[in-house]
Amino acid sequence: MIVARDLRKTYGGTTALNGIDLDVGPGTVCGLLGPNGAGKTTAVRILTTLLRPSGGRAEVAGFDVATHPRQVRRNIGLVGQHAAVDELLTGRQNLELFARLSHLGAARARARAGELLERFGLTHAGPAKEYSGGMRRRLDLAAGMILAPPVLFLDEPTTGLDPRSRAEIWRAVRELVAGGTTVLLTTQYLEEADQLADRISVIDAGRVVAEGTPAELKAKLGGDRLDVVVHDPARLAEAAEIVARAADGPPEVDQDTRRVSAPVGERVAALTGVLAAFAEAGVEAEDVAVRRPTLDEVFLSLTGGDTR
Ligand SMILES: Nc1ncnc2c1ncn2[C@@H]1O[C@H](COP(=O)(O)OP(=O)(O)OP(=O)(O)O)[C@@H](O)[C@H]1O
Ligand SMILES: [Mg+2]
Repeated sequence: MIVARDLRKTYGGTTALNGIDLDVGPGTVCGLLGPNGAGKTTAVRILTTLLRPSGGRAEVAGFDVATHPRQVRRNIGLVGQHAAVDELLTGRQNLELFARLSHLGAARARARAGELLERFGLTHAGPAKEYSGGMRRRLDLAAGMILAPPVLFLDEPTTGLDPRSRAEIWRAVRELVAGGTTVLLTTQYLEEADQLADRISVIDAGRVVAEGTPAELKAKLGGDRLDVVVHDPARLAEAAEIVARAADGPPEVDQDTRRVSAPVGERVAALTGVLAAFAEAGVEAEDVAVRRPTLDEVFLSLTGGDTR
C-alpha cells in the first residue's frame, strides 16, 4: 500500500531525507522510528502529497504521489503532528466540519460524525478545549477516519500523552488495523513501535539505519544480554570483571541498582561460567538473568549512542 524508493528532500542546505526506501503491505502497521529531526514528518508530508520530494518516487494505494496526488488523497487519512481540531467547537461539530470539508452532504456528515464519536468514546458534549490530551488526540484520529481511508498516516500520535491516554490511542489504532486499514505511524517511542508496528524502519538523519520486525531488530543487536545484581555494592567492580570475561562486549555497571549487564554470545555457557566464577570468588548474586535486548538498547546502538 505504500512504496518509497530513494526518497529525498532538501530544504536549502539541509538534507531532511537522504534516500529512504519503504514497503508497507496492506493491513499492516509500519513504524517510522527516529529522534527529533530524523525526517519523519518530512516523509509523511511527501507520502500525503503535502510536499514534493527533491528526488526518488513514492506510491500510496497504487498511485504515484507526484503524478496522481488527487487519487492518493482520496485513499488516505492524515493525523498530523499538531492537533487540527477547533478548540471552540464540540467534538461532534468538529467531525461534522471535517466531514463537510470532505464533501459529504449534511445528513451523511451528521451520521458519520455520530458513528465516530461513539467508536472513539467522544460523546462528551463540551467544546474541544475542555478535552484532555488523550481525548483531543482521539478526536484527531476520528477526523482522519471520516472517509474510512484504506491508508492512514499518524505523525507521532501519542507524543506528550500519559500512559493511559497512550493505551487508548493504541487500542483505537489496533481496531482500525483489525478492520483492514494500513497504517504508517511515526514515533520517538520505542515501546510504541514495539507494541503497534509489524515492521519498523529506524530512521536517523534522513536515512533508514535499520529495518525489520521488532524481534529482528532486537536480535540484530547481537543476541542476548546477561544481567547480574550483586548483593554487596563493594563487590560490584569485581563482579564486573568476572562478567567481562564471559561477555561479548564491555559490561555496563549501574551503582544504584548494583547491576552488571553485558552482551553474551552463548547464553548457557556465559551463565554457567559467570555463576561458577562468582561462587569461586565468593561474590553473592541476588539475581541473574539472560534476556533479549530492549529496543532502547537497539536504538542507542544503531544511532551510535547519539540520542540528541
Ligand atoms: N520547512 C523546513 N525548512 C527547512 N528545514 C526544515 C523544514 N522542515 C524540516 N526541516 C529540517 O529537516 C529535518 C527533518 O525534519 P522533520 O520535521 O522531518 O523531522 P522529524 O523526524 O519529524 O522530527 P520531530 O520528531 O521533531 O517531529 C530537520 O533537520 C529539520 O530542521
Ligand atoms: Mg515530526
